[in-house]
Amino acid sequence: MSAPERVGVIGGGRMGAGIAQVLLGVGTTVHLVEAGDAAAAAARARVADGLEEAARRGKLDGGVDDALARLHMVDSPALLPADTGLVVEAVPEQVSVKLQVLRAAEEALGPDAVLATNTSSLSLTELAAALDRPARFVGMHFFNPVPASKLVEVVVAPETAPDVVETARAWTRRLGKTDVVVRDSPGFASSRLGVLLGLEAIRMLEEGVADAEAIDTAMELGYRHPMGPLRSTDLVGLDVRLAIAEYLTGTLGERFAPPQLLRDKVAAGELGRKSGRGFHTYS
Ligand code: NAI
Repeated sequence: MSAPERVGVIGGGRMGAGIAQVLLGVGTTVHLVEAGDAAAAAARARVADGLEEAARRGKLDGGVDDALARLHMVDSPALLPADTGLVVEAVPEQVSVKLQVLRAAEEALGPDAVLATNTSSLSLTELAAALDRPARFVGMHFFNPVPASKLVEVVVAPETAPDVVETARAWTRRLGKTDVVVRDSPGFASSRLGVLLGLEAIRMLEEGVADAEAIDTAMELGYRHPMGPLRSTDLVGLDVRLAIAEYLTGTLGERFAPPQLLRDKVAAGELGRKSGRGFHTYS
């Protein structure tokens, strides 16, 4: 049997741990980068929990121990093995942090390696400009929670090479997900539409058009959305949505201006599911 392929994941938070988990689930060897022992232990635990959950649901072939044996924690992207074919970065949404890890990974890897970013809003064109091999750089925008979601937006910057786009699409399909190819532009396809709908729902709540439950139910039952726009904002995090809305206001215009109610809730620490309360309450 040939050795499993190597994939690197940088950042093992909510998204990175999920990405590592689904890669392990298809037999890949994963090098997961987290800086420091405590962060590494927490990331490994997140991946292990996810694998156990998948196993309980009968969605993991080969067992948790086998998958975990292929997970290697590393301290820095500079320590990724040179023969790693694909690296997906999922560090916090800040240009400086992203560039630091992408450049370090680029130095460690061979010239044909594909570097992917899981950014949900940053300009790939801007990130690519700071890289030595912009042709090898592409967006792979996963959705939360990664194991359950079916979509990856493959985001193509002007200099991304066609074979790199195909590599990202092939990995997406191998993970059992559907790819959509989107030109690099603010908010890509999903956030641009999803955020706008969420903001309008918040404005409706401000205007007293209906309560949160009614607004969500209107879209869930009326338009067959699996989750209404306010519940979806709660899942993503109100702080995350606010930051994206501010960015989209700057790039696409005033129609993305965050409503005051969103700002007030973030200021009050009502961040959605993760804080127990957003537009709905969670136990
Ligand atoms: P998170 O905060 O849960 O995870 C970030 C992880 O990166 C943390 O574990 C942190 O310790 C680690 N990290 C920070 N600096 C690092 C460094 N220099 N080297 C290695 N690891 C480092 O964030 P989350 O939610 O996982 O988001 C990550 C990325 O995914 C962001 O770009 C975000 O925009 C994007 N994204 C998030 C979605 C979401 O629903 N949370 C959905 C789709 C994309």
